[in-house]
Amino acid sequence: MTLSIRDFYGKVWGEYADPVHHPITARALSAQECAVDRRIRAAGPRRVLDLGCGPVPVVRVRSAPLVVAADLVFDMLVHLKTSRRGPGVCLDACMLPFRGRSFDFIWCGLLIDHIEAPESWIEELSRVLAPGGTLGMACWDRTVLPAGRYPGNRRMRYTTADGEELSVPSFPTWAAALRELEQRDPGMEMESFSIVPDEYVLQIAWARSRS
Ligand SMILES: C[S@@+](CC[C@H](N)C(=O)[O-])C[C@H]1O[C@@H](n2cnc3c(N)ncnc32)[C@H](O)[C@@H]1O
Repeated sequence: MTLSIRDFYGKVWGEYADPVHHPITARALSAQECAVDRRIRAAGPRRVLDLGCGPVPVVRVRSAPLVVAADLVFDMLVHLKTSRRGPGVCLDACMLPFRGRSFDFIWCGLLIDHIEAPESWIEELSRVLAPGGTLGMACWDRTVLPAGRYPGNRRMRYTTADGEELSVPSFPTWAAALRELEQRDPGMEMESFSIVPDEYVLQIAWARSRS
């Protein structure tokens, strides 16, 4: 069954990071957490946005004076409030309900695949990023992922813990996002983490806005 992005994550968020059913996701989250923490320590931002945070936000609450967790799925954010301090905002990442220059650091973990128009999205992220701020994003390397995971390169297949076969819109937008980021910051940096050798490789791009 193909679901909308909101309905898909509304259905699976409870098991998304379960290390028993989804050990690869759990490992990817911990790799992201370390990489993001290192960058935050180096940059020392005051206001951080974890966009498309999912059920287990990787930005630690105490890593900055303000850490906002934001996602499309309302019920998941409500649940998150039971175990995590700090604001949670239900929003669409393509139309951010924030004033310009609101954040010094924006993290988007495994969100880009769900964004169909990366150029205008990065424009929107740049609007809310303060001068000199850091924008980071992570994406799986599709070229090495198991065949059949992205039918038609427009959807991602997913099997729930109960064995239900689902699919959700997922687009090959990483390369276009990198081009856009590099135009804005020619010094853009890349990192790569082998989560399952030769299969699941997590790529991270870091770009700075102009001061
Ligand atoms: C693959 S999960 C990533 C979760 C977590 N950041 C991680 O790295 O594992 C994608 C998350 O992005 C959220 N998402 C997808 N499209 C979104 C949008 N347009 N606006 C806000 N959140 C969105 C989903 O609800 C989901 O929680």
